Amino acid sequence: MKQPHLITFDEIGARDIGYISVADAMKNISFKIERVYWAYYTPDSIVRGRHAHRNLEQVLIAVGGRILVTTEMPDGKIEMFNLDRPSKGVYLPPYCWHTMQYSHDAAQVVLASAEYNEADYIRDYQEFKSIKAQ
Ligand code: TYD
Repeated sequence: MKQPHLITFDEIGARDIGYISVADAMKNISFKIERVYWAYYTPDSIVRGRHAHRNLEQVLIAVGGRILVTTEMPDGKIEMFNLDRPSKGVYLPPYCWHTMQYSHDAAQVVLASAEYNEADYIRDYQEFKSIKAQ
């Protein structure tokens, strides 16, 4: 199974002029990007996510604020990714249960490998836990 991991984007620029970071499909992003969506104004008391996908691959980036992403794989491995710079992202593979907590000012951009499909979601944690690690 593919594993979640941190992606560090190059910071092009300098402190006095600002920065650009770039996501290139099939280069520093390992899949062809089919969809981009963003999440914002999430209260810091809310935990979002709480699901896995059967096929979808995604990269989450906090282009503003901070996002704490917790991942769990079917083998029980739990990791936390602290997205506290716009040049950091986290890759979420298929069968990766994930939750996100946001600072009140966080803006999350998501690069996704496929169109939205509710049938691709595993939203039941017991169903997720029944998946055998490969
Ligand atoms: P969801 O993926 O559960 O968001 P999060 O992981 O941030 O909690 O989606 C939340 C709602 O938005 C859900 O009703 C499905 C809907 N949605 C779309 O209609 N299209 C999309 O592309 C996405 C990502 C979600």
